[in-house]
Amino acid sequence: MKHPFPHFSLLSAATRCVLSLLVLTLTLLTPHRLLAQATYTPTPECLESRQEFADMKFGIFLHWGIYSMFGQGEWYMQNANLDWREYQKAASAFYPHLFNADEWVQAIKASGARYITFTSRHHDSFSMWRTEQSDYNIVDATPFGRDVVGELADACHRQGIRLHLYYSHLDWRRADYPLGRTGHGTHRDLKPCWDTYLQFMEGQLTELLTRYGAIGAIWFDGVWDHDSDSIPFDWDLDRQYALIHRLQPRCLVGNNHHQDVNPGEDIQIFERDVPGQNLAGYSGDMQISQLPLETCQTMNGMWGYKITDQDYKSTDELIHLLISTSGKGANLLLNIGPQPNGQLPATALDRLREMGQWLSVNGETIYGTRAGDVAEQSWGASTRRGEHLYLHVTDPDVRELTFTLPVRVVKAASFADGSKLTYRQLQDKAGHRWFVTIQVPEHTPTVDYIIDLVTR
Ligand code: GLC
Repeated sequence: MKHPFPHFSLLSAATRCVLSLLVLTLTLLTPHRLLAQATYTPTPECLESRQEFADMKFGIFLHWGIYSMFGQGEWYMQNANLDWREYQKAASAFYPHLFNADEWVQAIKASGARYITFTSRHHDSFSMWRTEQSDYNIVDATPFGRDVVGELADACHRQGIRLHLYYSHLDWRRADYPLGRTGHGTHRDLKPCWDTYLQFMEGQLTELLTRYGAIGAIWFDGVWDHDSDSIPFDWDLDRQYALIHRLQPRCLVGNNHHQDVNPGEDIQIFERDVPGQNLAGYSGDMQISQLPLETCQTMNGMWGYKITDQDYKSTDELIHLLISTSGKGANLLLNIGPQPNGQLPATALDRLREMGQWLSVNGETIYGTRAGDVAEQSWGASTRRGEHLYLHVTDPDVRELTFTLPVRVVKAASFADGSKLTYRQLQDKAGHRWFVTIQVPEHTPTVDYIIDLVTR
Protein backbone atom coordinates (compact mmCIF):
# COMPACT_ATOMS: atom_id res chain seq x y z
CA MET A 1 0.00 0.00 0.00
CA LYS A 2 1.42 3.46 -0.87
CA HIS A 3 1.33 5.96 1.97
CA PRO A 4 0.27 9.51 1.32
CA PHE A 5 2.22 10.65 4.39
CA PRO A 6 5.74 11.99 3.77
CA HIS A 7 8.67 10.50 5.77
CA PHE A 8 6.44 7.60 6.76
CA SER A 9 9.36 5.32 7.56
CA LEU A 10 10.81 7.81 10.07
CA LEU A 11 7.75 7.57 12.33
CA SER A 12 7.53 5.19 15.28
CA ALA A 13 6.05 1.72 14.67
CA ALA A 14 2.91 2.57 16.68
CA THR A 15 2.30 5.81 14.77
CA ARG A 16 2.91 3.97 11.49
CA CYS A 17 0.27 1.42 12.39
CA VAL A 18 -2.29 4.07 13.37
CA LEU A 19 -1.63 5.95 10.13
CA SER A 20 -1.81 2.73 8.12
CA LEU A 21 -5.13 1.95 9.74
CA LEU A 22 -6.38 5.41 8.79
CA VAL A 23 -5.25 4.93 5.20
CA LEU A 24 -6.82 1.49 5.15
CA THR A 25 -10.15 2.82 6.46
CA LEU A 26 -10.15 5.66 3.91
CA THR A 27 -9.26 3.38 1.06
CA LEU A 28 -11.80 0.78 2.12
CA LEU A 29 -14.46 3.41 1.68
CA THR A 30 -13.42 3.71 -1.95
CA PRO A 31 -15.39 0.96 -3.69
CA HIS A 32 -12.66 -0.21 -6.09
CA ARG A 33 -10.42 -1.17 -3.16
CA LEU A 34 -12.84 -3.87 -2.18
CA LEU A 35 -12.12 -5.78 -5.31
CA ALA A 36 -9.04 -7.77 -6.07
CA GLN A 37 -7.17 -6.99 -9.28
CA ALA A 38 -9.91 -6.43 -11.87
CA THR A 39 -8.14 -8.15 -14.72
CA TYR A 40 -5.47 -10.80 -14.89
CA THR A 41 -3.96 -12.18 -18.03
CA PRO A 42 -2.13 -15.41 -17.33
CA THR A 43 1.17 -15.81 -19.16
CA PRO A 44 1.59 -18.64 -21.71
CA GLU A 45 3.76 -20.52 -19.17
CA CYS A 46 1.04 -20.23 -16.59
CA LEU A 47 -1.63 -21.45 -19.01
CA GLU A 48 0.55 -24.44 -19.86
CA SER A 49 1.08 -25.14 -16.19
CA ARG A 50 -2.70 -25.04 -15.60
CA GLN A 51 -3.23 -27.72 -18.25
CA GLU A 52 -0.47 -29.85 -16.76
CA PHE A 53 -2.17 -29.47 -13.40
CA ALA A 54 -5.53 -30.53 -14.84
CA ASP A 55 -3.86 -33.60 -16.39
CA MET A 56 -2.36 -34.82 -13.10
CA LYS A 57 -5.73 -35.66 -11.51
CA PHE A 58 -4.37 -36.99 -8.23
CA GLY A 59 -2.22 -35.41 -5.53
CA ILE A 60 -1.41 -36.10 -1.89
CA PHE A 61 -1.89 -33.42 0.77
CA LEU A 62 0.37 -33.57 3.83
CA HIS A 63 -0.50 -31.71 7.02
CA TRP A 64 2.54 -31.86 9.24
CA GLY A 65 3.78 -29.50 11.92
CA ILE A 66 4.40 -29.27 15.64
CA TYR A 67 0.65 -29.74 16.14
CA SER A 68 1.19 -33.38 15.07
CA MET A 69 2.85 -33.98 18.45
CA PHE A 70 -0.40 -33.48 20.33
CA GLY A 71 -2.19 -36.03 18.13
CA GLN A 72 -5.31 -33.85 18.07
CA GLY A 73 -5.32 -32.43 14.56
CA GLU A 74 -3.96 -29.13 13.28
CA TRP A 75 -6.61 -26.97 15.00
CA TYR A 76 -5.68 -28.05 18.54
CA MET A 77 -4.15 -24.67 19.49
CA GLN A 78 -7.41 -22.92 18.64
CA ASN A 79 -9.84 -25.61 19.78
CA ALA A 80 -8.24 -26.00 23.21
CA ASN A 81 -7.54 -22.25 23.56
CA LEU A 82 -3.86 -22.92 24.22
CA ASP A 83 -1.65 -20.12 25.46
CA TRP A 84 0.94 -19.53 22.72
CA ARG A 85 3.81 -19.67 25.25
CA GLU A 86 2.75 -23.15 26.35
CA TYR A 87 1.99 -24.35 22.84
CA GLN A 88 5.40 -23.37 21.54
CA LYS A 89 7.07 -25.79 23.97
CA ALA A 90 6.10 -28.49 21.48
CA ALA A 91 8.69 -26.98 19.13
CA SER A 92 11.48 -27.52 21.65
CA ALA A 93 10.57 -31.24 21.74
CA PHE A 94 10.00 -31.80 18.01
CA TYR A 95 12.43 -34.47 16.90
CA PRO A 96 10.84 -36.65 14.19
CA HIS A 97 13.78 -39.03 13.97
CA LEU A 98 12.11 -41.30 11.40
CA PHE A 99 11.46 -38.53 8.89
CA ASN A 100 12.85 -39.46 5.51
CA ALA A 101 11.65 -37.29 2.64
CA ASP A 102 12.69 -39.83 0.01
CA GLU A 103 10.61 -42.56 1.67
CA TRP A 104 7.54 -40.30 1.78
CA VAL A 105 7.94 -39.35 -1.85
CA GLN A 106 8.48 -42.97 -2.90
CA ALA A 107 5.32 -44.16 -1.13
CA ILE A 108 3.33 -41.26 -2.55
CA LYS A 109 4.61 -41.79 -6.07
CA ALA A 110 3.72 -45.48 -5.83
CA SER A 111 0.09 -44.45 -5.17
CA GLY A 112 -0.06 -42.91 -8.63
CA ALA A 113 -0.26 -39.37 -7.22
CA ARG A 114 1.43 -36.81 -9.43
CA TYR A 115 1.95 -34.03 -6.90
CA ILE A 116 2.36 -33.36 -3.20
CA THR A 117 0.94 -30.37 -1.35
CA PHE A 118 2.79 -29.71 1.89
CA THR A 119 1.90 -27.39 4.77
CA SER A 120 4.77 -24.91 4.86
CA ARG A 121 3.15 -22.84 7.61
CA HIS A 122 -0.24 -23.58 9.13
CA HIS A 123 -2.52 -21.39 11.26
CA ASP A 124 -0.35 -22.02 14.36
CA SER A 125 2.35 -19.84 12.75
CA PHE A 126 5.08 -22.47 12.84
CA SER A 127 7.21 -22.57 9.68
CA MET A 128 8.53 -25.89 8.40
CA TRP A 129 11.57 -24.33 6.74
CA ARG A 130 14.51 -22.13 7.76
CA THR A 131 12.75 -18.79 7.37
CA GLU A 132 14.49 -15.53 8.12
CA GLN A 133 11.18 -13.79 8.80
CA SER A 134 10.75 -15.45 12.22
CA ASP A 135 12.78 -17.78 14.39
CA TYR A 136 9.64 -19.81 15.09
CA ASN A 137 10.68 -22.38 12.55
CA ILE A 138 11.80 -25.99 12.24
CA VAL A 139 15.51 -25.16 12.04
CA ASP A 140 15.83 -22.49 14.74
CA ALA A 141 13.20 -23.63 17.23
CA THR A 142 13.49 -27.44 17.33
CA PRO A 143 16.22 -29.88 18.33
CA PHE A 144 15.59 -31.55 14.94
CA GLY A 145 17.09 -28.55 13.16
CA ARG A 146 16.45 -29.80 9.63
CA ASP A 147 14.76 -27.86 6.85
CA VAL A 148 11.80 -30.13 6.07
CA VAL A 149 10.51 -28.09 3.11
CA GLY A 150 14.04 -28.15 1.68
CA GLU A 151 14.43 -31.92 2.10
CA LEU A 152 11.01 -32.57 0.65
CA ALA A 153 11.66 -30.25 -2.29
CA ASP A 154 14.95 -32.03 -3.02
CA ALA A 155 13.30 -35.47 -2.83
CA CYS A 156 10.43 -34.32 -5.09
CA HIS A 157 12.81 -32.87 -7.67
CA ARG A 158 15.01 -35.99 -7.54
CA GLN A 159 12.07 -38.35 -7.96
CA GLY A 160 10.20 -36.23 -10.49
CA ILE A 161 6.99 -35.31 -8.67
CA ARG A 162 5.68 -31.80 -8.25
CA LEU A 163 5.68 -29.96 -4.97
CA HIS A 164 2.92 -27.51 -4.05
CA LEU A 165 3.01 -25.50 -0.86
CA TYR A 166 0.11 -24.79 1.46
CA TYR A 167 0.44 -21.37 3.13
CA SER A 168 -1.85 -20.02 5.86
CA HIS A 169 -3.08 -16.48 5.51
CA LEU A 170 -4.27 -16.36 9.08
CA ASP A 171 -2.13 -16.65 12.19
CA TRP A 172 -2.99 -17.61 15.79
CA ARG A 173 0.31 -16.50 17.32
CA ARG A 174 1.60 -13.29 15.78
CA ALA A 175 0.62 -10.06 17.50
CA ASP A 176 0.50 -8.11 14.23
CA TYR A 177 -2.03 -10.40 12.50
CA PRO A 178 -5.35 -8.52 12.48
CA LEU A 179 -7.55 -10.84 14.54
CA GLY A 180 -10.36 -12.54 12.68
CA ARG A 181 -12.97 -14.95 13.98
CA THR A 182 -10.49 -17.60 15.21
CA GLY A 183 -7.45 -17.60 17.49
CA HIS A 184 -9.07 -15.58 20.29
CA GLY A 185 -7.88 -17.87 23.07
CA THR A 186 -4.12 -17.91 22.50
CA HIS A 187 -3.41 -14.98 24.85
CA ARG A 188 -1.41 -12.75 22.54
CA ASP A 189 -0.92 -9.05 23.20
CA LEU A 190 -2.61 -7.98 20.04
CA LYS A 191 -0.92 -5.21 18.10
CA PRO A 192 -2.56 -5.61 14.72
CA CYS A 193 -0.51 -4.14 11.91
CA TRP A 194 -1.36 -5.26 8.43
CA ASP A 195 1.76 -3.66 6.96
CA THR A 196 4.22 -5.71 9.00
CA TYR A 197 2.14 -8.87 8.67
CA LEU A 198 1.95 -8.50 4.90
CA GLN A 199 5.68 -7.84 4.77
CA PHE A 200 6.26 -11.00 6.80
CA MET A 201 4.11 -13.08 4.45
CA GLU A 202 5.68 -11.63 1.34
CA GLY A 203 9.14 -12.26 2.78
CA GLN A 204 8.19 -15.87 3.44
CA LEU A 205 6.62 -16.41 0.02
CA THR A 206 9.74 -14.96 -1.57
CA GLU A 207 11.91 -17.44 0.34
CA LEU A 208 9.69 -20.36 -0.64
CA LEU A 209 9.76 -19.38 -4.29
CA THR A 210 13.44 -18.58 -4.60
CA ARG A 211 15.18 -21.26 -2.55
CA TYR A 212 13.58 -24.58 -3.35
CA GLY A 213 13.45 -24.83 -7.12
CA ALA A 214 10.19 -25.10 -9.05
CA ILE A 215 7.08 -24.95 -6.88
CA GLY A 216 3.94 -26.09 -8.71
CA ALA A 217 1.45 -24.04 -6.72
CA ILE A 218 0.92 -21.92 -3.65
CA TRP A 219 -2.22 -23.11 -1.86
CA PHE A 220 -3.57 -20.37 0.39
CA ASP A 221 -5.94 -21.02 3.25
CA GLY A 222 -7.52 -18.87 5.93
CA VAL A 223 -9.13 -15.91 4.14
CA TRP A 224 -12.42 -17.13 5.62
CA ASP A 225 -11.11 -15.97 9.02
CA HIS A 226 -12.41 -12.51 8.08
CA ASP A 227 -15.59 -13.51 6.31
CA SER A 228 -17.79 -12.10 9.06
CA ASP A 229 -16.18 -8.63 9.24
CA SER A 230 -18.64 -5.76 8.95
CA ILE A 231 -16.25 -3.97 6.57
CA PRO A 232 -14.85 -6.39 3.98
CA PHE A 233 -11.25 -7.18 4.82
CA ASP A 234 -8.71 -6.39 2.10
CA TRP A 235 -6.07 -9.14 2.03
CA ASP A 236 -4.04 -7.47 -0.73
CA LEU A 237 -4.39 -10.72 -2.63
CA ASP A 238 -3.57 -9.16 -5.98
CA ARG A 239 -0.20 -8.05 -4.61
CA GLN A 240 0.65 -11.50 -3.29
CA TYR A 241 -0.54 -13.21 -6.45
CA ALA A 242 1.52 -10.85 -8.60
CA LEU A 243 4.59 -11.57 -6.46
CA ILE A 244 4.14 -15.32 -6.93
CA HIS A 245 3.64 -15.05 -10.69
CA ARG A 246 6.65 -12.74 -10.99
CA LEU A 247 8.97 -15.03 -9.00
CA GLN A 248 7.82 -18.22 -10.72
CA PRO A 249 5.62 -17.70 -13.79
CA ARG A 250 4.68 -21.39 -13.85
CA CYS A 251 3.62 -21.45 -10.21
CA LEU A 252 -0.16 -21.63 -9.88
CA VAL A 253 -2.16 -19.76 -7.28
CA GLY A 254 -5.01 -21.47 -5.45
CA ASN A 255 -6.98 -20.10 -2.54
CA ASN A 256 -9.22 -22.16 -0.28
CA HIS A 257 -11.44 -19.16 0.53
CA HIS A 258 -14.75 -20.96 -0.14
CA GLN A 259 -15.86 -18.18 -2.50
CA ASP A 260 -15.92 -17.58 -6.23
CA VAL A 261 -12.47 -17.33 -7.78
CA ASN A 262 -10.68 -13.98 -7.94
CA PRO A 263 -8.54 -12.65 -10.77
CA GLY A 264 -4.98 -13.90 -10.28
CA GLU A 265 -6.06 -17.37 -9.16
CA ASP A 266 -5.20 -20.26 -11.47
CA ILE A 267 -7.03 -23.17 -9.88
CA GLN A 268 -10.31 -23.43 -7.99
CA ILE A 269 -10.36 -25.35 -4.72
CA PHE A 270 -13.34 -27.19 -3.19
CA GLU A 271 -12.92 -28.31 0.40
CA ARG A 272 -14.28 -31.80 1.18
CA ASP A 273 -16.74 -31.80 -1.73
CA VAL A 274 -16.63 -32.63 -5.40
CA PRO A 275 -17.43 -29.52 -7.44
CA GLY A 276 -21.16 -28.95 -7.55
CA GLN A 277 -21.86 -30.57 -4.18
CA ASN A 278 -22.01 -28.90 -0.81
CA LEU A 279 -22.26 -31.75 1.68
CA ALA A 280 -19.52 -30.34 3.93
CA GLY A 281 -21.02 -26.84 3.82
CA TYR A 282 -18.01 -24.92 2.52
CA SER A 283 -18.96 -24.68 -1.14
CA GLY A 284 -22.42 -23.11 -0.97
CA ASP A 285 -21.30 -19.74 -2.30
CA MET A 286 -19.17 -21.11 -5.13
CA GLN A 287 -19.92 -21.26 -8.84
CA ILE A 288 -17.84 -23.77 -10.77
CA SER A 289 -15.35 -21.71 -12.78
CA GLN A 290 -13.51 -22.41 -16.02
CA LEU A 291 -10.24 -22.88 -14.09
CA PRO A 292 -8.76 -26.30 -13.35
CA LEU A 293 -10.57 -27.67 -10.31
CA GLU A 294 -9.36 -29.47 -7.22
CA THR A 295 -11.21 -31.22 -4.40
CA CYS A 296 -9.30 -31.74 -1.17
CA GLN A 297 -10.47 -34.51 1.11
CA THR A 298 -9.16 -36.37 4.16
CA MET A 299 -8.27 -40.05 4.16
CA ASN A 300 -9.72 -40.38 7.67
CA GLY A 301 -11.57 -37.41 9.21
CA MET A 302 -8.84 -34.94 10.14
CA TRP A 303 -6.09 -33.11 8.24
CA GLY A 304 -3.33 -33.13 10.87
CA TYR A 305 -2.45 -36.36 12.72
CA LYS A 306 -5.23 -37.32 15.13
CA ILE A 307 -4.46 -40.24 17.36
CA THR A 308 -8.09 -41.24 17.96
CA ASP A 309 -9.13 -41.05 14.31
CA GLN A 310 -8.69 -44.47 12.75
CA ASP A 311 -11.82 -44.04 10.67
CA TYR A 312 -10.08 -44.36 7.33
CA LYS A 313 -12.07 -44.45 4.11
CA SER A 314 -11.68 -47.81 2.39
CA THR A 315 -9.58 -48.11 -0.76
CA ASP A 316 -12.77 -48.69 -2.77
CA GLU A 317 -14.29 -45.48 -1.38
CA LEU A 318 -11.14 -43.55 -2.23
CA ILE A 319 -11.08 -44.93 -5.78
CA HIS A 320 -14.75 -44.00 -6.16
CA LEU A 321 -13.91 -40.51 -4.96
CA LEU A 322 -11.12 -40.24 -7.54
CA ILE A 323 -13.54 -41.39 -10.24
CA SER A 324 -16.14 -38.92 -9.10
CA THR A 325 -13.73 -35.96 -9.03
CA SER A 326 -12.24 -36.96 -12.41
CA GLY A 327 -15.78 -37.20 -13.78
CA LYS A 328 -16.21 -33.55 -12.84
CA GLY A 329 -12.92 -32.67 -14.48
CA ALA A 330 -11.38 -32.04 -11.05
CA ASN A 331 -8.24 -33.30 -9.32
CA LEU A 332 -8.39 -35.17 -6.03
CA LEU A 333 -6.00 -33.87 -3.37
CA LEU A 334 -6.11 -36.62 -0.76
CA ASN A 335 -4.78 -35.83 2.69
CA ILE A 336 -2.54 -37.74 5.08
CA GLY A 337 -1.48 -36.50 8.53
CA PRO A 338 2.06 -37.79 9.13
CA GLN A 339 2.88 -38.95 12.68
CA PRO A 340 5.02 -36.92 15.10
CA ASN A 341 7.85 -39.44 14.66
CA GLY A 342 8.10 -38.55 10.98
CA GLN A 343 6.36 -41.61 9.53
CA LEU A 344 3.22 -41.80 7.44
CA PRO A 345 0.56 -43.85 9.29
CA ALA A 346 0.54 -47.55 8.32
CA THR A 347 -3.10 -47.47 7.15
CA ALA A 348 -2.35 -44.50 4.92
CA LEU A 349 0.57 -46.44 3.41
CA ASP A 350 -1.77 -49.38 2.67
CA ARG A 351 -4.25 -47.06 0.95
CA LEU A 352 -1.48 -45.48 -1.11
CA ARG A 353 -0.23 -48.88 -2.26
CA GLU A 354 -3.70 -50.11 -3.18
CA MET A 355 -4.66 -46.96 -5.05
CA GLY A 356 -1.38 -47.29 -6.93
CA GLN A 357 -2.23 -50.85 -7.93
CA TRP A 358 -5.59 -49.74 -9.33
CA LEU A 359 -4.11 -46.72 -11.12
CA SER A 360 -1.28 -48.72 -12.65
CA VAL A 361 -3.95 -50.74 -14.52
CA ASN A 362 -6.62 -48.09 -15.05
CA GLY A 363 -4.68 -44.83 -15.04
CA GLU A 364 -5.29 -44.36 -18.75
CA THR A 365 -8.96 -43.65 -17.95
CA ILE A 366 -8.06 -41.02 -15.32
CA TYR A 367 -4.81 -39.15 -16.08
CA GLY A 368 -5.03 -36.50 -18.77
CA THR A 369 -8.81 -36.81 -18.95
CA ARG A 370 -11.42 -34.10 -18.65
CA ALA A 371 -15.02 -34.32 -17.43
CA GLY A 372 -16.93 -36.93 -19.44
CA ASP A 373 -20.00 -36.14 -21.55
CA VAL A 374 -22.23 -38.24 -19.30
CA ALA A 375 -22.80 -36.30 -16.08
CA GLU A 376 -22.45 -38.26 -12.83
CA GLN A 377 -25.15 -40.96 -12.56
CA SER A 378 -26.26 -43.27 -9.79
CA TRP A 379 -24.23 -46.00 -11.53
CA GLY A 380 -20.98 -44.02 -11.73
CA ALA A 381 -19.27 -41.29 -13.74
CA SER A 382 -17.49 -40.70 -17.03
CA THR A 383 -14.19 -39.22 -18.17
CA ARG A 384 -13.01 -38.28 -21.64
CA ARG A 385 -9.65 -38.26 -23.40
CA GLY A 386 -9.76 -37.48 -27.11
CA GLU A 387 -12.09 -39.90 -28.87
CA HIS A 388 -12.36 -42.12 -25.82
CA LEU A 389 -15.24 -41.71 -23.44
CA TYR A 390 -14.71 -43.91 -20.37
CA LEU A 391 -17.79 -44.97 -18.45
CA HIS A 392 -16.86 -45.91 -14.89
CA VAL A 393 -19.58 -48.23 -13.60
CA THR A 394 -19.12 -48.29 -9.85
CA ASP A 395 -22.47 -49.94 -9.07
CA PRO A 396 -21.80 -53.68 -9.57
CA ASP A 397 -25.51 -54.52 -9.96
CA VAL A 398 -26.27 -52.32 -12.93
CA ARG A 399 -26.80 -54.29 -16.17
CA GLU A 400 -27.93 -51.58 -18.56
CA LEU A 401 -26.91 -47.93 -19.03
CA THR A 402 -28.93 -45.36 -20.95
CA PHE A 403 -27.77 -41.82 -21.64
CA THR A 404 -27.59 -39.21 -24.38
CA LEU A 405 -24.47 -38.01 -26.16
CA PRO A 406 -23.72 -35.13 -28.51
CA VAL A 407 -21.64 -37.51 -30.66
CA ARG A 408 -22.01 -40.98 -32.17
CA VAL A 409 -20.59 -44.13 -30.65
CA VAL A 410 -18.47 -46.13 -33.12
CA LYS A 411 -17.17 -48.75 -30.73
CA ALA A 412 -17.91 -50.04 -27.22
CA ALA A 413 -15.63 -52.41 -25.35
CA SER A 414 -14.69 -53.49 -21.88
CA PHE A 415 -11.58 -51.52 -20.89
CA ALA A 416 -10.16 -54.48 -18.96
CA ASP A 417 -9.98 -57.02 -21.78
CA GLY A 418 -11.12 -55.21 -24.93
CA SER A 419 -14.14 -57.53 -25.41
CA LYS A 420 -16.89 -55.92 -27.53
CA LEU A 421 -20.06 -54.78 -25.80
CA THR A 422 -23.58 -54.68 -27.19
CA TYR A 423 -25.10 -51.23 -27.64
CA ARG A 424 -27.91 -49.48 -29.48
CA GLN A 425 -28.14 -45.84 -30.46
CA LEU A 426 -30.80 -43.61 -31.98
CA GLN A 427 -30.33 -40.11 -33.27
CA ASP A 428 -32.93 -37.46 -32.41
CA LYS A 429 -34.89 -35.84 -35.22
CA ALA A 430 -32.87 -32.64 -35.21
CA GLY A 431 -29.70 -34.72 -35.45
CA HIS A 432 -28.07 -33.17 -32.38
CA ARG A 433 -28.15 -36.01 -29.89
CA TRP A 434 -27.74 -39.74 -29.70
CA PHE A 435 -29.70 -41.89 -27.30
CA VAL A 436 -27.44 -44.74 -26.29
CA THR A 437 -28.18 -47.99 -24.45
CA ILE A 438 -25.36 -50.32 -23.43
CA GLN A 439 -25.52 -53.73 -21.80
CA VAL A 440 -23.13 -54.25 -18.91
CA PRO A 441 -22.18 -57.93 -18.96
CA GLU A 442 -22.16 -60.13 -15.88
CA HIS A 443 -18.68 -59.83 -14.42
CA THR A 444 -16.80 -60.56 -11.24
CA PRO A 445 -17.61 -57.53 -9.09
CA THR A 446 -14.79 -55.02 -9.13
CA VAL A 447 -14.49 -51.57 -7.64
CA ASP A 448 -15.12 -50.12 -11.12
CA TYR A 449 -16.19 -51.77 -14.37
CA ILE A 450 -14.86 -49.52 -17.13
CA ILE A 451 -16.43 -49.25 -20.57
CA ASP A 452 -14.32 -47.72 -23.30
CA LEU A 453 -16.46 -45.95 -25.90
CA VAL A 454 -14.95 -44.52 -29.05
CA THR A 455 -17.07 -41.61 -30.27
CA ARG A 456 -16.90 -39.44 -33.38
C1 GLC B 1 -9.53 -25.90 6.53
C2 GLC B 1 -8.83 -25.98 7.86
C3 GLC B 1 -7.42 -26.32 7.75
C4 GLC B 1 -7.04 -27.29 6.68
C5 GLC B 1 -7.75 -26.99 5.39
C6 GLC B 1 -7.48 -28.02 4.34
O1 GLC B 1 -9.38 -24.67 5.94
O2 GLC B 1 -8.90 -24.78 8.57
O3 GLC B 1 -6.94 -26.74 8.98
O4 GLC B 1 -5.68 -27.14 6.47
O5 GLC B 1 -9.10 -26.88 5.61
O6 GLC B 1 -8.41 -27.95 3.34
